[in-house]
This record gives sequence, structure tokens and C-alpha cells, in this order.
Amino acid sequence: SFLGLDLGTSGLRALLTDEGGTPLASAERHYEASHPRSGWSEQDPADWIAALEGAVEELRAHPSWAGLRGIGVAGHMHGAVTLDADDRVIRPCILWNDTRSHAEAARLDTIPGVRALSGNIVFPGFTAPKLLWMQAHEPEAFARVARVLLPAAYLNLYLTGDHVADMSDSAGTSWLDTGARDWSDRLLEAGNMRRDQMPRLVEGCAPAGILREDLARQWGVGPGAAVAGGAGDNAAAACGTGVLSEGQGFVSLGTSGVLLAARDGYRPSPDTALHSFCHAVPGTWYQMGVMLSCTDSLNWLARITGARPAELTAALGDCLTAPGRVRFLPYLSGERTPHNDADIRGAFTGIGAETTREDLTRAVLEGVSFGLRDSAEALRSVGARPAQLLAIGGGSGSRYWLRLLATVLDTPLHLPKAGEFGAALGAARLGRIAATGESPAEVMTPPATGEVVEPVSALVPAFDTAYRRFGPAYRGIRAIQ
Ligand code: XUL
Repeated sequence: SFLGLDLGTSGLRALLTDEGGTPLASAERHYEASHPRSGWSEQDPADWIAALEGAVEELRAHPSWAGLRGIGVAGHMHGAVTLDADDRVIRPCILWNDTRSHAEAARLDTIPGVRALSGNIVFPGFTAPKLLWMQAHEPEAFARVARVLLPAAYLNLYLTGDHVADMSDSAGTSWLDTGARDWSDRLLEAGNMRRDQMPRLVEGCAPAGILREDLARQWGVGPGAAVAGGAGDNAAAACGTGVLSEGQGFVSLGTSGVLLAARDGYRPSPDTALHSFCHAVPGTWYQMGVMLSCTDSLNWLARITGARPAELTAALGDCLTAPGRVRFLPYLSGERTPHNDADIRGAFTGIGAETTREDLTRAVLEGVSFGLRDSAEALRSVGARPAQLLAIGGGSGSRYWLRLLATVLDTPLHLPKAGEFGAALGAARLGRIAATGESPAEVMTPPATGEVVEPVSALVPAFDTAYRRFGPAYRGIRAIQ
């Protein structure tokens, strides 16, 4: 059997599959992030280990557990776990959604060669600026940093005893030469870091090591289980949904929204504010647009109107209506693609005395969809045009939203049949390949499509016109904030 671990922002999910990749059992444990100051977001890596041990305890009851042969870890990206010379955690992990180091990020981003080598803007959530922040604000702690690991690599260390990270996650640090798939001495120097502080790099589906003997005994599994390099969560979701090559993509409607396209080659375009990262299989990359407040925008409206998000969307019915006058700009926590603007905040415009709660809900869903269209346009500008998109994530439960999004993107959305297709499955697939040497293309197949949501073609032009007015609105609210 194989084990996929998805170390998420709110909890850890462990999925056990059989030798053919069919899910057998899963277990979840939750933990919190702490926000000691505004814009800060931290987690204690010990909580991840406790969650892992709790989930394993539960999965051990399954008859296939004892035959565990391969493990893969997917993790939330960009977080900095700093370790001293004895591998002790120096301070809580600073997470991907922590914006304290925005000034350091902006400074790093302007150093000549940084964007070209890393292939990306240095976004405030990325890892390198976090270490520069530590150097300035916690110099004693910074001086003790013997190693920096991303969250997934920290679990790799726990599992194997070795410092080893995969390419896809490492591409989100601003220390990696993303084209060369190696640490960059120039980028490390720009971030005041050294190569010996970095983990060894392997491909996501390659073996990173084997499960520690003492852990194997404690867990009741045989010796020698392979641990894969693993992946950042988005690359792992791409492995779980079979998004491996040119023309394939998914849209994920989660807290943040992601529009991801697999690429056969490396064509970075940092000025578009797209992310260009290594994939978890050798010789491939992916590009994605990230919007920071996707279902979060709807959740916010639900909170302030005292309704549940599903109630708000249910009130719209299933039938898509043409865009009205009310516009919503979905920048509740700033935006990455296409604006790279940590300061911008959202807005409603076009509100009249007649505006109802339903109008506001519709505007929020439209604003989020237009934000995703921004990412689709950015992807198109670099030649990535997935002919269809898999729709995954919590927001894909709303029929109205799916019709709207298909129409705004003018692209059919494929809904996977109920089952497993997320980062945990992707991680289990990485563990399987590391253990068996099977080919990624054979193992990483797309899920069966349950339903296809087609664009409402009669409304495509109206939403197109509304979208064209959405872009200038950003500049308008920028000017008054
Ligand atoms: C990707 C990103 C998020 C995190 C959250 O760049 O910041 O998707 O990986 O899980």
C-alpha cells in the first residue's frame, strides 16, 4: 500500500491507497495557525507531527497498513521552518499567508537577475524574504539557522532523518534556479543564505530516502518503505488530477483561487504575476495564477450578512443571469495575480437603493470569477490555453458559480466524479512512483468526469464586456486607497 500526506494550512490529511492507487482509508487531524500580530501567520511544526501521528494511529487499523511500501508528502508552500545544528526548530514556522516580510520581498524583487533566475516575482509570502526579516528582527535566531526547510521537507526529515526537498516546493522559495532545477548561488547570496543551509534536492516522484527504522517499528510496518521527494500542494493536486502535460489544467476554488496549467517547457514570465514552478515530475513545469480571496470572499459576505455561504448561493437559483451594475473587487487580503499588490483592498461599486443581498452575492461570485479570468488571460499571454479545466475545491459545490465561471472563462469545466483527486492522492502517487519506479504518465491519470459545465454562450459577450470594465476598476480603487 501507499500513503499520501497532505499537510494543509488548517490540518493534515492522510490517505492510504492500495497497490493500484485506489483509496482505501483516510484520516484527518486539525491544527491552528496563530496570528500574534496583524499580518502574521505561524504554526508550530510539532503540531504537524502530532497530527501525523494521530492520523497514522487511525490508519493502522486498516489491514493493508502493514504492507506500506511508499509515502509522499504534499505541503502548504513557502513556509520557513528554521533548524539549528541539532535539527531543533528555532522559531515557529512563518507561513505562506504571512505578509510581515513584504518590504524585504519588494527589495529582493528589484535586485537585478532575481526574477530572471527564480522565474517569479518575489511575492511577500515567499520564503527568501522571511529569512531576511529574521535577520533584521531576530538576529540571534537568524545566526543559529543551520538549515531551512519548507513544511513538506520538514515532514521528510521526520520520516527519513535526512534534509531533502523536492523541486516543485523549492521553486517557491526565491532561492531556486527554476529552469536549472538547482539552488542558485546568486539567489542565495541575494537572500543572505548559503547552500549548506539548503536541503538536498530530488525530483518529487524520486526516492528521498526510506522510512526511519524506529518509526517503521513504531508504526507497525515492514522495513524499507520509500519516501518520495514530495511536492508543494498545488503540484501535488496536479498529480492527483492527472494535470501533467501541455493543454491540461485545473481551477481550484478554495480559500485562495488557483488556475493552473501544466507546461512541457519552462517559459517564465514574472511580469504577468503568474507563478512559474517546477512540476513534481522531472523535466516539466507548471504555471498558475493565484488569487488570494476566492471562497474567502463569499465567506466574508456570509459572515457580515449572517447567512451561510451555501444559503447565499442557493438563493440565486441555478439559472445564470446577465451581469448587473453592482461590481465587487475581490481584494480582501491584497492580490497576487495579476496585480502583485499586498496593500490593495476590495470594494463594491454600483450599489443602488434597490440593491439586494442577492445582487451582492452575484457581484461577489462575478468579481471572483473575473479575478480568475485575469489569471486565465495571463496564462493565455504565455501560450498556455487548456481547452478544458477540471474544477476542484469547496467552491465547486455551487452550480450557479460553476455556470458563471465557465461563461466568464468561456471554457468548459469538468467536474470529477465524487472520490479522491486532491493533493493527498497526488502525494500517494508520488510515494508509489518512488517505491515502484512506475512511469508518472501511467500512474497520474485524470479522475473520471462526472459532469461537464458548459459556458452559457448567449451570455459570453455580456460577461466579456463586464470583464473589460473590471480591470480599470482596480486602478480606480488603487487611486483612492
Ligand atoms: C501557492 C500558495 C498557496 C499555498 C497554500 O503559491 O501560496 O497555494 O501553497 O496552500
